[in-house]
Parts: sequence; structure tokens; C-alpha cells
Amino acid sequence: MRDILNKTIAEIVSDDISTASVFKKYHLDFCCGGGKTISKACEKTNINIEDILYDLENVNISNSNSNLNFKDWKLDFLIDYIVNVHHTFVLENVGVINEFAQKVATVHGDHNPENIEIANLFAQLSKELISHMKKEEDILFPAIKQMINNGNSDFDFDTIESPIKMMEEEHDNAGDIIKKIQQLSNNFSTPDYACNTYKALYHKLEEFTNDLFQHIHLENNILFPKVRILENELKM
Ligand SMILES: [Fe+2]
Ligand SMILES: [Fe+2]
Repeated sequence: MRDILNKTIAEIVSDDISTASVFKKYHLDFCCGGGKTISKACEKTNINIEDILYDLENVNISNSNSNLNFKDWKLDFLIDYIVNVHHTFVLENVGVINEFAQKVATVHGDHNPENIEIANLFAQLSKELISHMKKEEDILFPAIKQMINNGNSDFDFDTIESPIKMMEEEHDNAGDIIKKIQQLSNNFSTPDYACNTYKALYHKLEEFTNDLFQHIHLENNILFPKVRILENELKM
């Protein structure tokens, strides 16, 4: 890991495009001005090199959740996990992806017009997801927790089925947009001449897509079916 100290930022990002978000976080240019080593780039700033090295070492760890047994989790724990992991992931990433997407659309839009559409679609998706997650956090998830804790299904709506249905429809819509982006980006593959921002955008979009599919899977296939069963039991 320490040998990255001898590499330029551009080389580090080219070796592993997922590191682009770390340099972005510290406002270090990894694209056209990435020809410096980390220590050289940090010289005139207050950035602690150890902080950057720590983030670089951990950049690929945060989303390795394949061994978790979601099906056996208690529903309130699953809800907290969805909010803390997936909702937080969306909120932390839409800003930087929109910024990269706008930049790539502006710089490469003439030769690769699909990037203009990708930027527009991602902006729309971000807006919709933020309002969608707010509905889950403010209305649906508290109602589910009320069912779990108080054993009643006494809400402002007749049945939990109606907000669940609405969330499922919004998931379908988000899924359609992200699949369209996947198609337009040729499954997130950049042309040979792509600069590091272009590569970083496609890498982040792929990471975002995987996270969104996992997020929707947990809600549609694990949480919602169990909530439907719980509501039926409570009504009996
Ligand atoms: Fe959600
Ligand atoms: Fe959702």
C-alpha cells in the first residue's frame, strides 16, 4: 500500500478507479493535473497524508455485504440497516456523481452525446430517490416499527399495503432509469480516450447501480413480504 506514495495521483486512479472519490473528497486533482505524488499535492494544503492513505486502504471495503444473512434479521434491525447503509450511500454519492456527470456531459457531450442524456437521467433519478427515501423514513418505516412495537396497524392509511405499493412503483421507476443509464453507458465501459473524470463517473455509476439494486432487493423481496405477513397476522 505504501508504494502508492511513489506513484502520481493519476497513476493511482488509473490503477484503481474507485480511488477517484477519495481524491475528490480532499479536492485533489486526479484528472488533467494528476501528475503529482500525494505528498507533492498535499504540500501547500492542510491535508494529513495519513487520512488519505486510510481512506484509500478502505475504499473497497465499505460495500462488501455478501455474507450477511438479511432474511434472518429482525424487521426493525433490517430497516435501520437499510437507512444507515443504503439511504446514507445514496445521499453521500448523488452530489459527486451529478458533478462528474455534468462535467463529462459538458466536455465530451459533442463526441459522446449519450453522456448528456446520462447526466439528465441521473439528475432526475437523484431527485426522485431523495423524495422516495424521505417517504420511507417519515411514513412507511415508522408505521412498520409501530406495528412491531405496539402490535397494532392503526395508521393514517387503511392498510400498510397502500404505501408499500407506492414504494414498489417508485422502485420500478428508479430501476427503469438506472437500466437506461446502464444501456446508454454500454454497461459502464468508457472509450480508450476517456479522461479520469469520465472513468470515475462510470465507475461511480456502476457502484451506485449495484447499491441501488441491493437496496431495492432488500425492500421488495425481504422487508415488504414480511411486513405483509405481519399485518395479516395482526388483523387476525
Ligand atoms: Fe429505501
Ligand atoms: Fe425504497
